[in-house]
Amino acid sequence: MKYRSLHNADARLSEIGLGCASYWAKKIFSERTAQRIVHYAVACGITVFDTGSSYANGHAEQRLGRALRGLANRDDLWISSKVGTRVGAWGRLYKDFSERGIRHSVHNSLRALGLSRLPVLFLHGPNPEDFNDTTFGVLEDLQREGLVGLVGVNTFDDEIIRLTVASGRFQCLMTDFNVLKPDRGRLISELANGGLDVFVAAALAGGLYSRSFYRLYLPKHAWYWARALARQRPQLKQARGLHFLNQVPGWSAAQLALAFVLENPDPVCALIGTTSETHLSELAAVSGKKAPPEIMQKIQAANTA
Ligand SMILES: NC(=O)c1ccc[n+]([C@@H]2O[C@H](COP(=O)([O-])OP(=O)(O)OC[C@H]3O[C@@H](n4cnc5c(N)ncnc54)[C@H](OP(=O)(O)O)[C@@H]3O)[C@@H](O)[C@H]2O)c1
Repeated sequence: MKYRSLHNADARLSEIGLGCASYWAKKIFSERTAQRIVHYAVACGITVFDTGSSYANGHAEQRLGRALRGLANRDDLWISSKVGTRVGAWGRLYKDFSERGIRHSVHNSLRALGLSRLPVLFLHGPNPEDFNDTTFGVLEDLQREGLVGLVGVNTFDDEIIRLTVASGRFQCLMTDFNVLKPDRGRLISELANGGLDVFVAAALAGGLYSRSFYRLYLPKHAWYWARALARQRPQLKQARGLHFLNQVPGWSAAQLALAFVLENPDPVCALIGTTSETHLSELAAVSGKKAPPEIMQKIQAANTA
């Protein structure tokens, strides 16, 4: 596993991180398998684990906390979580960036994760009005109190990215960059060169271009399809232009997709989601492996044509 330096802390992070969200976090997905995946990730040299207070109705953080319990190197891991989305009655999600809401959420996250300090905290999908002195003040207090390390913003929205940078209050950003959004790479490089630590979310673009995405023999496949239909309809169509990724000898489509993200040296870490040790092992092997340049160019061209 290769490691990348942070701009805002004296540390190096694995260039691949495990997203502890989505199907991995669902109660219907086996707890034992979910924990095994975390332990296997640690064995592969992965040191970054991302989750969120509202993911799977709060179940994601608790599950990750149980998986981390007993790990000898738990304190060396970079666990990130999010504030600002609260789970209400019937699982409904509410935005809450109030001082009380942020504090309450951070204390709950620390308890669920079994940590005394959260290495990275992201505001989860803030709106422009959430960039205010109350938010900045409580984040600074939490850092001063030693409860939180780096603070950042998790957004896929260009305007919010602009506000994140303009505020000068954040050390990191989590945004999407993948084979279906290759142009994001340029912006990420600019932001990283300006001193922001950028974490890539959805680094595999949900795997929509992969032949295996079209299999439908497990409940998770139906769940991934339902998510794509709800949130990624245009990308499903766009992904058809990337089917050539399934025909490259020695590489799987997901490996090539991850290699495309890792080719950019500027983000600090690419987060991938998986419910399979086999998939994780395939992806971990991409770190440090040189992908065919003509395929990398073809990915860029497929999306800019
Ligand atoms: N997506 C978002 O909107 C979002 C927002 C904020 C943060 N994030 C962060 O980014 C992380 C990753 O995003 P994500 O989980 O949404 O999507 P992703 O990593 O882009 O894609 C996950 C999909 O890829 C499949 N996959 C993984 N390895 C594979 C392999 N080797 N071969 C074929 N398919 C493979 C997974 O299926 P299997 O389970 O079968 O492996 C799953 O369907 C999240 O967990 C979270 O930490 C994402």
